Amino acid sequence: MKIEPSDLDFTGKRVLVTGAASGIGAAMARTFHGHGATMVLADRDAAGLEAMARELPDSRAITFDQADLASIQAMAEAAGPVDVLLNNAGVLWAGPFAEMPMAELDRVAVINFMGPMRVAHAVGLGMLERGAGVIVNTSSQLAFHGSAERAVYASTKAGIAQFTKSIAAEWAPRGVRVVAIAPGRTLTNINSYLLEDGEKRVEALKGIPNGRLAEAPEMARLALLLASDVLGYVVGETVISDGGYVLL
Ligand SMILES: NC(=O)c1ccc[n+]([C@@H]2O[C@H](COP(=O)([O-])OP(=O)(O)OC[C@H]3O[C@@H](n4cnc5c(N)ncnc54)[C@H](O)[C@@H]3O)[C@@H](O)[C@H]2O)c1
Repeated sequence: MKIEPSDLDFTGKRVLVTGAASGIGAAMARTFHGHGATMVLADRDAAGLEAMARELPDSRAITFDQADLASIQAMAEAAGPVDVLLNNAGVLWAGPFAEMPMAELDRVAVINFMGPMRVAHAVGLGMLERGAGVIVNTSSQLAFHGSAERAVYASTKAGIAQFTKSIAAEWAPRGVRVVAIAPGRTLTNINSYLLEDGEKRVEALKGIPNGRLAEAPEMARLALLLASDVLGYVVGETVISDGGYVLL
């Protein structure tokens, strides 16, 4: 049976993407908008958000801070009812765990772990009331590895994978489907050192069997397919797209 263009048409759907000002979130915003969705763009970067909102007609920009519960609640309220939540904003701190300042440990844990759970709660309750919705969380390939110099980051992403399974089991019977994507190394601001630093880039490529870093639109397309009814039987999975990294 053929997949028809209408199967990937999000016309009439409101899609909220966090971390929409940059990287994977910006690519998600462009991709879902290209497939007809009305976009609600959320990020702490007000200038970046405004630029995205200008680029994508009929989209709405909401500035918020995923580190702050009240800000998340205000964002969810301002967003109104959404059909799809792309729960994507996150930060990276890279370096030896022993050298990680406690304030950074807390910041990464709150933004990457508490944040997406709070966003899913704040936005998901409306979906449950309406008995319909899809949540796509952004985990990471590092959810599936121990990762030197990424201890807290990898732990938060493993937590997101477990959170995805757990609420998927609770919410699927109530009409809300929850899944996650696990991107491999993708060329965005989070990884800007890979663009600048030739040696680190060569080192990073060694771990990727297909020999290249990912582009943000590749992650956006995975999210689009997962959010569509084409993959409507996928529930609770964290789907890896990493060029084969986890195979090594
Ligand atoms: N790029 C990669 O290699 C990679 C790999 C695996 C997972 N990820 C995940 O993908 C997601 C998107 O990252 P990216 O690579 O596009 O990086 P990015 O830095 O380009 O984008 C992250 C966005 O999140 C926003 N953000 C950060 N903290 C926030 C906060 N407290 N409140 C609101 N917004 C905040 C930033 O302003 C930015 O626009 C993250 O969750 C990241 O962990 C990225």
